[in-house]
Amino acid sequence: MPFRLLISLGLLCALLPLHHGAPGPDGSAPDPAHYRERVKAMFYHAYDSYLENAFPFDELRPLTCDGHDTWGSFSLTLIDALDTLLILGNVSEFQRVVEVLQDNVDFDIDVNASVFETNIRVVGGLLSAHLLSKKAGVEVEAGWPCSGPLLRMAEEAARKLLPVGNHIDVLTGKWVAQDAGIGAGVDSYFEYLVKGAILLQDKKLMAMFLEYNKAIRNYTRFDDWYLWVQMYKGTVSMPVFQSLEAYWPGLQSLIGDIDNAMRTFLNYYTVWKQFGGLPEFYNIPQGYTVEKREGYPLRPELIESAMYLYRATGDPTLLELGRDAVESIEKISKVECGFATIKDLRDHKLDNRMESFFLAETVKYLYLLFDPTNFIHNNGSTFDTVITPYGECILGAGGYIFNTEAHPIDPAALHCCQRLKEEQWEVEDLMREFYSLKRNRSKFQKKTMSSGPWEPPTRPGILLSPENHDQARERKRAKQKVPLLSCPSQPFTSKLALLGQVFLDSS
Ligand SMILES: *[C@@H]1O[C@H](CO)[C@@H](O)[C@H](O)[C@H]1NC(C)=O
Ligand SMILES: *[C@@H]1O[C@H](CO)[C@@H](O)[C@H](O)[C@H]1NC(C)=O
Ligand SMILES: *[C@@H]1O[C@H](CO)[C@@H](O)[C@H](O)[C@H]1NC(C)=O
Ligand SMILES: *[C@@H]1O[C@H](CO)[C@@H](O)[C@H](O)[C@H]1NC(C)=O
Ligand SMILES: *[C@@H]1O[C@H](CO)[C@@H](O)[C@H](O)[C@H]1NC(C)=O
Repeated sequence: MPFRLLISLGLLCALLPLHHGAPGPDGSAPDPAHYRERVKAMFYHAYDSYLENAFPFDELRPLTCDGHDTWGSFSLTLIDALDTLLILGNVSEFQRVVEVLQDNVDFDIDVNASVFETNIRVVGGLLSAHLLSKKAGVEVEAGWPCSGPLLRMAEEAARKLLPVGNHIDVLTGKWVAQDAGIGAGVDSYFEYLVKGAILLQDKKLMAMFLEYNKAIRNYTRFDDWYLWVQMYKGTVSMPVFQSLEAYWPGLQSLIGDIDNAMRTFLNYYTVWKQFGGLPEFYNIPQGYTVEKREGYPLRPELIESAMYLYRATGDPTLLELGRDAVESIEKISKVECGFATIKDLRDHKLDNRMESFFLAETVKYLYLLFDPTNFIHNNGSTFDTVITPYGECILGAGGYIFNTEAHPIDPAALHCCQRLKEEQWEVEDLMREFYSLKRNRSKFQKKTMSSGPWEPPTRPGILLSPENHDQARERKRAKQKVPLLSCPSQPFTSKLALLGQVFLDSS
């Protein structure tokens, strides 16, 4: 059958009146306050079940009420759920878990960890919890947000991942799969181009994304669905919607492409309505699941898109998706010991797993969809001023960027700690240079400083340990091409003048 015809059949199904913006059972828009409480209850049912039955294992097995390790052996669900606790307003439990993690989690173990999954879940979870810990009432050390125990744990976990390879065969440089699309395999790449551009204020990343976006729209988009195409010929290889692709409307909303985002979102929402969840693969022209891909592991992506789009439009249809998600997850997947992965959306059979992203992402995005005044949605009208040993930081003003496991990062903290470190490296480097020059030139002797070899300035925080110091030097060297305070071609004396508050050149 020619492809166009197949698509039209798919569209016919998508356009049935039942599928678009239908009112709730009682005809009114969902009540956010009611659904906030429902989502909270959902969280605690799953979270308490994990603690009772599965901790310290990575994940809960909800059908047998026990636990198992999945991505390592890091009490993954606890780390992944930590910042969700704060978003739901539970500071006491957040504080307790921070203690538990510091006492119990050990990254010095021999396991086969997935680089990608460990990075987004463990490193991302710890980083986010570190940045939120002051808000959660945890007593933070003097160098926070540029240092702290959770940050050190995140660093340790990240360093463990570094020498490990990944699945990619980088030696041949050949494309193994020649299908191009927006889903599995590339989804987080596109997501991070946009989010990285925002977080790091990097125009190059955004330019890259916009270039890809043009090709994606030219070759893979058909009637606001996105398909898989043969990357050289442009012919459709798979007229399939993958549930992982449901992040796309959210990403479009981040670049301001609201109308396209909303149209694609509504397409995907029809699939949710058809099954009460998103099958891993959905054959668009056939309007049905794909064999062996009928499961729904309670993924967040469509809800995530609804949250972004609701922020942008206030369209109540988006709350309806939230309502449908709460109702159907509770109806289909809730069991005595938590929420179980749906193995098959056709008959609602269950699997004995509750993925950690259910508490990290699905519940979090649902709650944020229904909680318009959550601190995460801050529009800059309030902020905290934090005095660090390096200077003043403005934090918590909003604009949080979620990593691909929904762990929010405050871009201001990144800016603050990076700026201060660059300045510190500049100063340290100049001091080294100064003393090396002083030793070479006798007329400098005893003029400005007391004698003795130069010591790095003692400051609290992560820069203190020798290995970090070396790392800082490495990064400093890399940074030297675009230094903040000095120009490599400037003579030493004028560099000193720039930093005149540190010491004066008396030669
Ligand atoms: C916080 O979470 C703990 C553990 O689930 C629970 O016992 C406690 O009641 C919660 N507190 C609030 C304020 O929700
Ligand atoms: C990790 O995987 C390798 C290769 O598959 C295997 O030999 C090794 O025993 C595994 N290690 C652990 C701790 O599971
Ligand atoms: C997409 O299509 C437009 C208009 O047909 C064309 O100008 C543009 O070069 C195409 N872009 C890519 C990346 O193929
Ligand atoms: C920002 O948020 C505050 C508090 O929610 C609200 O009063 C204010 O109108 C918002 N400002 C803008 C520009 O949206
Ligand atoms: C100081 O002298 C040493 C050895 O003579 C030389 O390697 C170094 O580059 C000199 N430093 C400066 C800043 O001139």
